[in-house]
Amino acid sequence: IISIKDFNKVQLEQIFASTDKIMKLSPIERREICKGNGLGYLFYEPSTRTRLSFDAAMASVGGNSLGISDISSSSTKKGESLADTVRIMSNYSDVLVLRHPLDGSSRFAAEVSSKPVINAGSGTEEHPTQAIQDLFTIRKEKKKIDGLKIGIIGDLKYGRTVYSLLHGLGNYDVDVHLISPESLRIRSDSIYEIKKKLSFTESTKIEDYIDDLDVLYVTRIQKERFPDEEEYLKVKGSYVVGLDLLQKMKDDSIILHPLPRLDEISTDVDNTKNAKYFEQAEYGKHTRAALLGLILNENGF
Ligand code: CP
Repeated sequence: IISIKDFNKVQLEQIFASTDKIMKLSPIERREICKGNGLGYLFYEPSTRTRLSFDAAMASVGGNSLGISDISSSSTKKGESLADTVRIMSNYSDVLVLRHPLDGSSRFAAEVSSKPVINAGSGTEEHPTQAIQDLFTIRKEKKKIDGLKIGIIGDLKYGRTVYSLLHGLGNYDVDVHLISPESLRIRSDSIYEIKKKLSFTESTKIEDYIDDLDVLYVTRIQKERFPDEEEYLKVKGSYVVGLDLLQKMKDDSIILHPLPRLDEISTDVDNTKNAKYFEQAEYGKHTRAALLGLILNENGF
């Protein structure tokens, strides 16, 4: 699983159906799905949710996991290449999960790995399993994806979850509104490709759309990806979703966030019925369990 662009609507719906199925199984039934299989993870960037949810997902389907989450404690520190590290890890596992700061890293890893590779975040380009989790959350919480009005706000330049989500949404009939500071608009090199599948508007003002949205997907400004801290400071805190903004939204609208959150959603929103970002993180475990089950069982489960 390298890119969400490799999935069509039928395949996405199959993954969602498998996730629904897995959520209904008893713990004993789940443990049969990947019994005895091993997951190897390599995280060259920090992670809480993605790594732990893969760990939890693999355990829930009866497998085990091992890996490196502090790359500075690995032989990478001595100069070992990504290719060699991937080759070694693929000898110790049945499926490999990779997060790496470079665009194209997972595709490269898949070429040298003897086992399937799952992209757990590559540079600013892709985070496909996050998009699957995001689409599943929308479908679960809104009972559909087609026909929805979806706002995506924040760092649209560096946020890789945004690119994967937009390509995933391109399989559905949705109205998308992108809201960001001028300097964090979606990258021009990606616009053409996204526009082939999806039409969207762009604005700097959340007020332009807020009362019409079914889903508001909030993203963190990705400080670590700015080449210049001065530029980050100019846009830091550009948007904060608080109770005042929530009051302007439709009663049944939902707020999502891939997390981690800094200050872009105030904590007093957390206990409202519209806040679904913690459920979204929980669904990540189930969607990843379904993906592992589909990858490791040739004939499904
Ligand atoms: N959403 C997400 O990728 O979170 P982590 O960076 O904590 O894995």
